[in-house]
Amino acid sequence: MPSSHPTLRRTFLQGVATAGAVSVLLPSARPALGYTSPIDRPVFATIGLRNQGWTITSKSFGFADFAALADVDSTVLGVNVAKVEKGQGKKPDAYSDYRKILDRKDIDAVMIATPDHWHTKISVEAMKAGKDVYCEKPLTLTIDEGKLIEKVVKETGRVFQVGTMQRTEIDQRFLLAIALIRNGRIGTVKKVTCGIDSMESSPVIPSVGVPEGLDWDFWLGPAAKVPYLALPELRKGYGGGVPLFSNCHYSFRNWHEYSGGKLTDWGAHHVDIACWALGATDTGPSKITPVDYKLPVEYKDGNPVPSNQYNAATNFTIRAAMPNDVELIITSEGDNGILFEGTKGRFFVNRGKITGKPVEELKESPLPDGAIEKVYGGKVSANHTANFIEGIKSRKQPISDVWSHNRMLEICHLSNIAMRLGRELKWDPIKREIIDDAQANSFLKRENRKGFEINM
Ligand SMILES: NC(=O)c1ccc[n+]([C@@H]2O[C@H](COP(=O)([O-])OP(=O)(O)OC[C@H]3O[C@@H](n4cnc5c(N)ncnc54)[C@H](O)[C@@H]3O)[C@@H](O)[C@H]2O)c1
Repeated sequence: MPSSHPTLRRTFLQGVATAGAVSVLLPSARPALGYTSPIDRPVFATIGLRNQGWTITSKSFGFADFAALADVDSTVLGVNVAKVEKGQGKKPDAYSDYRKILDRKDIDAVMIATPDHWHTKISVEAMKAGKDVYCEKPLTLTIDEGKLIEKVVKETGRVFQVGTMQRTEIDQRFLLAIALIRNGRIGTVKKVTCGIDSMESSPVIPSVGVPEGLDWDFWLGPAAKVPYLALPELRKGYGGGVPLFSNCHYSFRNWHEYSGGKLTDWGAHHVDIACWALGATDTGPSKITPVDYKLPVEYKDGNPVPSNQYNAATNFTIRAAMPNDVELIITSEGDNGILFEGTKGRFFVNRGKITGKPVEELKESPLPDGAIEKVYGGKVSANHTANFIEGIKSRKQPISDVWSHNRMLEICHLSNIAMRLGRELKWDPIKREIIDDAQANSFLKRENRKGFEINM
């Protein structure tokens, strides 16, 4: 049972019940209203709300009660407090400083959906404060951050789910892909190609006034202090409503200061499935080769020279030499998805489809009963939050555990380092170090800005 104050917990739950509107607002999303003990409905808080934070919060109303939200942008916070109040029938408390959430004893778990440069600091502090953690992918900004998170999970015994929901959701399509491989339907796997799309470059982005309500210094947090940059044009569609070109909301993905470009954004999803399918969840490549790539700005000694333009790789093809002579290709070319090729056949899978002869052959020759459950390690959970909550109850690590996540993310981080330095890297998957390259090894960690160190 996670740390909790039953009295406070009961008060919160009674508040939800007396709000009276819950079953009216969410008749189907509230199957657990008959819960009998606090553990059936843990108390959650979400940190970072604007885009994915709202997605994972609203997906979780059926399983948890949200007592609090935190965001460094007061406009985002206000909008999401109202949305969560409508969704669950009770207003969550609102904080600009996530540490207020960590101080509260009635909160069992936090969901973290800030930009990547904040993930490790908040995750570590949350675990130290006795919270179980659901943190968005990519979990880390550097390989050393991953090692630190693993250490703290071990020390604190907290349950930790990474937000790689392709493992649980998307109609179990990726689980079917792995089941096909495990059942020998393409023979011995020889090559896996992860298509993760190209990244846009940017014009020069000017320094402008910080939008009202945004605490820019706090948003930067562990990253270096720099001016807020933005152009007036707004982003449309997914993640939209904010400047198309900026160094803040949504666009942080395009900057190595806050993220790792497509390699870690989409790589965290597809390379994850590739490594799981290969059984390469506690090992890594021996070599990373940047076959072909384009950085959008000039680099010197592995660091971008201009500070006012997107700097993450726009186009790339990376080859990782995986155990058992498997070639893993990560590329911006071709369709988004994963192509598995083996000695007996090939098939393609992405979020919309799974195609190829081995898939067609399932009509005549289905997989054995329970093949998907065997991959998942039991009955597939209703969604990725439900799986997290099953872990909170059983005290077993959920399906997206930090260890396997960090191993595959090492491939993505190494790919970025190889492109930044413009050379092939040899990797020791046991020591988790780059071989004979001190400069490249210096990119395995990053110093946090003074005042934003990780409190251990
Ligand atoms: N699993 C998925 O499929 C998926 C999809 C989208 C995004 N993500 C991940 O979710 C994370 C957020 O992405 P996004 O698109 O929502 O970004 P976003 O920029 O739209 O939103 C991030 C929010 O975090 C807030 N924030 C920043 N620092 C904070 C802090 N210290 N405390 C509290 N709030 C803080 C920002 O103000 C903003 O509201 C990223 O790591 C991204 O990779 C995952």
